[in-house]
Amino acid sequence: MAKFCLGRRSATLFSRCSPSSTLLPPPCLKQHPRFLQTSIANDQSVVPSFAFAFDIDGVLLRSSKPLPQAHRTLSYLQTHRIPFILLTNGGGKSEQERVDQLSQLLDVSLDTSMFVQSHTPFAELANGTGKVNLKDKCILVVGGAADRCRRIAEGYGFTNVVTPSDIITAYPAIWPFVYLDHHGPFARPLVPSVVSNQQSSGHPTPKVDAIMVFNEPRDWALDIQLIIDLLLSIGGHLGTLSTKNGDSNLPNQGYLQDGQPELYFSNPDLLWAASYHLPRLGQGGFQAALEGVFNAITGGPANNVHLHRNLFGKPTHATFAFAENRLSQHRTALQGSDAGKLKSVYMVGDNPESDIRGANEYRSPVGSRWDSVLVRSGVYRGGKPAYEPKVIVQDVWDAVRYGLGKEGVNVDEMAD
Ligand code: G3P
Ligand code: MG
Repeated sequence: MAKFCLGRRSATLFSRCSPSSTLLPPPCLKQHPRFLQTSIANDQSVVPSFAFAFDIDGVLLRSSKPLPQAHRTLSYLQTHRIPFILLTNGGGKSEQERVDQLSQLLDVSLDTSMFVQSHTPFAELANGTGKVNLKDKCILVVGGAADRCRRIAEGYGFTNVVTPSDIITAYPAIWPFVYLDHHGPFARPLVPSVVSNQQSSGHPTPKVDAIMVFNEPRDWALDIQLIIDLLLSIGGHLGTLSTKNGDSNLPNQGYLQDGQPELYFSNPDLLWAASYHLPRLGQGGFQAALEGVFNAITGGPANNVHLHRNLFGKPTHATFAFAENRLSQHRTALQGSDAGKLKSVYMVGDNPESDIRGANEYRSPVGSRWDSVLVRSGVYRGGKPAYEPKVIVQDVWDAVRYGLGKEGVNVDEMAD
């Protein structure tokens, strides 16, 4: 593999460098940083055939504080026109809001073309490009602060969104232990198109077609009650109970056999690196709690009953494929024309279960090689990780040095 360093006309070097290249005596870098920047900026020729995908929590940020090497790493890549995207299981804000916040926190200019959060792929379920089209279906959006996730869902194009706050405010008896004041300010009246009269309930109830968990739920108890009610209902009519439940003549012992709503999760993380010194429960913790209650009611796997769900977020293939697509589009945008084949992607993450497993198991339909790089600045703190990364490094700067080294860049020039 040709060894070269990032000097004059570096962009073109990515694809055409050879050991005999006499263009760039390495020491020039340190002496002419200004020269370096201008030459790359002016050289619109070729973006490299490799790129980076960065996790956020535990890699670039710890809660909302930038980690030491974050700014330096991203601005270094931008200076050298090396494409990267941010790929997080976080969410709960619109992509634009989050990118504006991150640009400020990390002091680098980012935009939504280089950003994928847990629920970003849900947008494809509203614009008909996904496997199903839920655009005008009644969806129960769960999770996040206040009614932010409702507004995100409507921003994606979903036209019929209800939230647990809407339902509990309309039917307070549905969960006797609720703090209504918490939900009232964010509740909207249920519109007639959502509510239908069901004989069995004897009063108008919402009919829900899909349940989408956008972000970490804030009121686990209420959300679990409502989701369980819908999964045991007749066709998603809240307040009804399917007579098929428990019927052993039916598949899944009759559970989820009566047109109940599909269940979508955007992030499987059981644990994540927040500001507390120990990892905290994430949306995956909520999923486990919900499944625990569902299994307690139905008998669960021991009774051949399984909770059917649609999973998004790292490590799922759906999210990595979505991210790869976004990375390819971003490379083309950076290049201004066809950027050529994306040969390798370095996935830098702190969570073996999501970042590392996802990159290891992802089989790119365009043949890109995804290498997993595990950092010690977040969830992972040492020992044998559950999923083996290509390499374990201290932090995001070392991760980029590793990737550039793999691509033949002389990283000795890159100060530690
Ligand atoms: O809720 C966020 C958490 O699950 C992890 O986020 O950026 O480490 O993928 P991130
Ligand atoms: Mg992380």
